[in-house]
Amino acid sequence: KTRLRRRFEEINEWAANYYNNLLLKSPEGEPGRHYFKQRGIDFETMNKFRLGYAPNRWDGLLEYMKTRGVQPHEVAEAGLALERGKPEKEGRQFYDRFRNRVLFSILDRRNQPIAFGGRVLDDSAPKYLNSPETTFFNKGHHLYGMHRAHQGIREEGYALLVEGYMDVIALQNAGYPNAVASLGTALTREQANLLKKYTRRVVLLYDSDDAGINAALRGGEILRDAGIQAEIITLKGAKDPDEFLKKHRREELDEFLKQAATFIEFKYRILTHNQPPRNILEKVELVHKLAPDVIKVVSPVEREGYERFLSLELGLTLEAIQREIKSLGQKNH
Ligand code: CTP
Ligand code: MN
Ligand code: MN
Ligand code: MN
Ligand code: MN
Repeated sequence: KTRLRRRFEEINEWAANYYNNLLLKSPEGEPGRHYFKQRGIDFETMNKFRLGYAPNRWDGLLEYMKTRGVQPHEVAEAGLALERGKPEKEGRQFYDRFRNRVLFSILDRRNQPIAFGGRVLDDSAPKYLNSPETTFFNKGHHLYGMHRAHQGIREEGYALLVEGYMDVIALQNAGYPNAVASLGTALTREQANLLKKYTRRVVLLYDSDDAGINAALRGGEILRDAGIQAEIITLKGAKDPDEFLKKHRREELDEFLKQAATFIEFKYRILTHNQPPRNILEKVELVHKLAPDVIKVVSPVEREGYERFLSLELGLTLEAIQREIKSLGQKNH
């Protein structure tokens, strides 16, 4: 580990403590406490997830870092401060990146803070602001919640992949220690490979809006290409798992989990908008759209399962479905 890497970790560690102490103890942290309280987050959770609050000042963190012997440019290099446009006569000028936001510490699996996600306290934009990418933090290589979930995934035998920080916290608190989220980006190959170290089975539980459905389709492909069995659930009556658990009991979420669709089944439902195809040409089109996914299924048993599924759904013989898919496969090779 290089000296710079150690310094990066040290600064992020001190920052996590500074923000967490403000949230838990300082009069200045009251807006953060009020925000989390209103969202049902208690003190134990604030500690478990090292939640924080960034004060409504331009130099709260910078001043604190000075007392620990950290120079402003070092805070900036760790992603936690920004430099003003033009260096003036009195020298370079910096200001805190996170101001008046509640903060989610992004911890690696050793519990080391490596970045932060900051949420506004109201409806203003941008809703979330995250640490920038640096030499030592690449958001596509990490998953939020992994500090607990690496154990939880092994115990449960699968990972529950969601969109948001609050979803991870709500789910882990409700007894799903296997919940993780990507950090505000589409799922990456690296994140899929990270999951694969712990499990071959991932259940995607994304937001129930169009963005969530599209993200689930793309996430499913990435997981499949990484050799992971992807299943997908869409919730009804809530926009995301956090909201669902505010309104419903955990047992009701378990019911949804039991109905998880495989990637191909899910894609079929999305392509048909849950309506049966209207005519023969629509049936052919569906087979053509799903064929590339069916062809990629390695297990002959699983593959025939999908062919039978299509045969039943479309009211066509298994032989016809299989011949069509086979000929499409040959064309593309
Ligand atoms: N996100 C982000 N930047 C944004 C919006 C979202 O990085 N401007 C990321 C965050 O990690 C967020 C996730 O994408 O948790 C999901 O976004 P969204 O569903 O909009 O937010 P929620 O997590 O549901 O936020 P909240 O419940 O706090 O409104
Ligand atoms: Mn969303
Ligand atoms: Mn939410
Ligand atoms: Mn959401
Ligand atoms: Mn209910």
